[in-house]
Amino acid sequence: MGKMILQAKSVYKTFSNGKNNLSVLKDFSLDVVEGEIITIMGQSGSGKSTALNILGTLDQPDSGTITIGGKSVHSLKEDELSLLRNRDIGFVFQFHHLLPEFSALENALMPTWINQEKGMENRAKILFEQVGLLDRMDHFPNQLSGGERSRVAVIRSLMNRPKIVLADEPTGNLDEKNANKLIDLLGEINKDFHQAIVLTTHNPDVASIGHRQFSLENGSLTEKV
Ligand SMILES: Nc1ncnc2c1ncn2[C@@H]1O[C@H](COP(=O)(O)OP(=O)(O)O)[C@@H](O)[C@H]1O
Ligand SMILES: [Mg+2]
Repeated sequence: MGKMILQAKSVYKTFSNGKNNLSVLKDFSLDVVEGEIITIMGQSGSGKSTALNILGTLDQPDSGTITIGGKSVHSLKEDELSLLRNRDIGFVFQFHHLLPEFSALENALMPTWINQEKGMENRAKILFEQVGLLDRMDHFPNQLSGGERSRVAVIRSLMNRPKIVLADEPTGNLDEKNANKLIDLLGEINKDFHQAIVLTTHNPDVASIGHRQFSLENGSLTEKV
């Protein structure tokens, strides 16, 4: 078996809305090994975003542990956590969150500005070429189609060569053709760069790209066999 990249062990998460408590994750566990694609299928409201946010250290579990690269994240201070997120984790969200006042290239480079790394433009250009967007680098988000924006978001998630990409319903607001393109792209990236990917979706076709496929129901994962 390959190297363990990320491990969630018996995670519980409850939200309280006034009087009511909503148990979203109950004994949620997942091991992610280097280079594997994991897909998580679940209905709207099943806790997919909650789970990915916790895996990506953007939110904290009530109990249970998250280990990334062999390190428990719970002992890390906030600045160490932001460094870990920036270096080791790539995020792709459903609505992509590109900043409107920056070009596609600038949006892609943003994670590298935080690290103050130089010479990343070349890497960005290689990725833009790979996804067929070399001639769109200077376009602003409102000058790009939904499918193009989603590919820019994927480039952005890869800029720092993260060990793992967490993609939360990345095809959720795309038409079928663009959804398929994005899925192909994620598959290629996984082959070329050997990045592990954890992807959530409610679409069985999208889920089928997973080397291991899970469903999220009643707060925990069941592997599809
Ligand atoms: N910050 C929050 N406060 C209260 N309830 C929340 C919060 N975040 C999510 N929820 C609730 O938790 C459940 C799971 O949400 P979510 O993880 O976004 O589901 P999914 O991504 O699968 O659609 C939903 O019922 C949602 O309303
Ligand atoms: Mg969600």
